[in-house]
Amino acid sequence: MIDNSSIENLKTRLDIVDVVGNYLELKKNGANFKALCPFHVDSNPSLVISPSKQIYHCFSCGVGGDAIKFVMEYEKLNYPETIEKLASMYNFSLTYTDNKKQVDRKLMDNLTLFFRKNLDMQKNAKEYLVQRGVGEALMEKFELGFAPNSDETLNFLRSHGYSMSEAKEFGVADISENNNKAYCRFTQRIMFPIRSRNGKIIGYGGRTITNHPAKYINSPQTNYFNKSKLLYGYFFAKESIFKQKKIIITEGYMDTIMLHSVGFTNAVATLGTALTNDHLPLITKMEPEVILAYDGDAAGITAALKASILLSRHSFKGGVILFGDGLDPADMVKNGEIEKLEKLFSETQPFVEFAIERIVKKYDLSEPLEKQKALQEGTLYLQSLPESIQESFKGVLSGALNLPQNLVKTKRNANIRRELEAFIDVLELTIIKTILQKPALIDTLLNNIDISMFKSHQEELKLLLNNELENPRLVRIGMWDDIKVYDETNLLSAMITFLIRFYNEKLLSIKRDKTLNYKEKQFHIRSIQEKIFKLKKGELVSYE
Ligand code: UTP
Ligand code: MN
Repeated sequence: MIDNSSIENLKTRLDIVDVVGNYLELKKNGANFKALCPFHVDSNPSLVISPSKQIYHCFSCGVGGDAIKFVMEYEKLNYPETIEKLASMYNFSLTYTDNKKQVDRKLMDNLTLFFRKNLDMQKNAKEYLVQRGVGEALMEKFELGFAPNSDETLNFLRSHGYSMSEAKEFGVADISENNNKAYCRFTQRIMFPIRSRNGKIIGYGGRTITNHPAKYINSPQTNYFNKSKLLYGYFFAKESIFKQKKIIITEGYMDTIMLHSVGFTNAVATLGTALTNDHLPLITKMEPEVILAYDGDAAGITAALKASILLSRHSFKGGVILFGDGLDPADMVKNGEIEKLEKLFSETQPFVEFAIERIVKKYDLSEPLEKQKALQEGTLYLQSLPESIQESFKGVLSGALNLPQNLVKTKRNANIRRELEAFIDVLELTIIKTILQKPALIDTLLNNIDISMFKSHQEELKLLLNNELENPRLVRIGMWDDIKVYDETNLLSAMITFLIRFYNEKLLSIKRDKTLNYKEKQFHIRSIQEKIFKLKKGELVSYE
């Protein structure tokens, strides 16, 4: 592990302007710098880099953070990899607490080899794969393996000098809280190793062949493995994606490997999660056309709608193909329907069209009130798109609703959106969206934050507290994929960040306040500093 104090030392050497400047062309803009945002398709520089705050923030897509976060996101590296990268960029030598690092990396490589050897000995598992249409070459390319019983795997690890806590660190073993006994997360499963975009094995997907109720089990989130940012097969597909300027995103491991086997080498899969903002940096880099190849069942359609909204907002070219009749791409490859697949991939429904169609389909248009809601949701969606696209698709929405085009009000609202974007405060919006979707957390909020503390989105917070959930301003926040929804723990830390910011600003304004005398100032300053001190330790302070 990298020694913490050497990370802290490195941090003091980093300057956000310098770091970001290594990747992007910066233009001076007042006290700050601006650049084209690399995390979404940006035509006007919307990424602002603040030397005084040492942060970056995109006013269009909402990303932001410090120098380390920037490199992490841009290079798609995990934290230790980012630290190592920055250290080498700035000729800084890191110190390591022990030499576990070397062993760590090999744990996953060695384990993968162990699983691979095991597959050869497992007749059932091999037969299963062959019956699914997976031949030796494919098993080899995707390094498929088999996880035997827990003890066998753990014995292998132990006999190769790995501790159970290391195995846990990599998400391979869990340690029972009852009896402190370790057990392997994957047993009796076909193993699909998952490589990072740089080719390191960082996790697994495991499919049961014994009808275990969990069909697939994936590695848990670890320091190295974040499934909501990863795409299965990306490492093997990236060259082809780059050459073809096309990427096929499927829902399954099997779909991906089967597509590769017949030449669709640009296929990848999400890891049992929705496609989200976090995946975009991986896709955006090569600016490919995106083909979403999803199941035609209800869950697949919902996922495809969400992904289409996301991708169209970020101006991605491409479209959707839904697979019906219980057949997915893997089944079609097995059935030899390659030409049909080729045809399907070339006739996708463009994202905006698909999204409008599916939004409208959610409503019963024979009911005037429902139709009104469909118009409202469709319009809100259109308004969230780049302006030129709004205009091109107005007719599609009005056509789908069988309403005159002038009822689709894009222009006026586009201004609202721009206005909103210019003044968005991601932290406030995140808090609002979280309460919007998890009303049970409202007490947590109100115990610590007063409405008056919200600066940019007080109106929306009031609407929320008045339960005016249908108000377009709230609906819009609810639909805004760039704004996350937090769980209670993350909400608490977001609130702490919010409060620290609030009290820091208050501190400044008190220092500048000419109506207070010296004694009064000292009193206020001390009490606020005390609050900030508590907050920084992670304690909440009540509002007074
Ligand atoms: P599906 O249930 O559609 O599986 O899940 P599939 O790809 O058709 O699987 P096969 O063909 O029967 O083997 C699609 C994806 O959702 C995730 C996995 O990533 C899977 O590839 N998933 C599914 C899980 O993570 N856990 C599950 O229990 C099921
Ligand atoms: Mn399948």
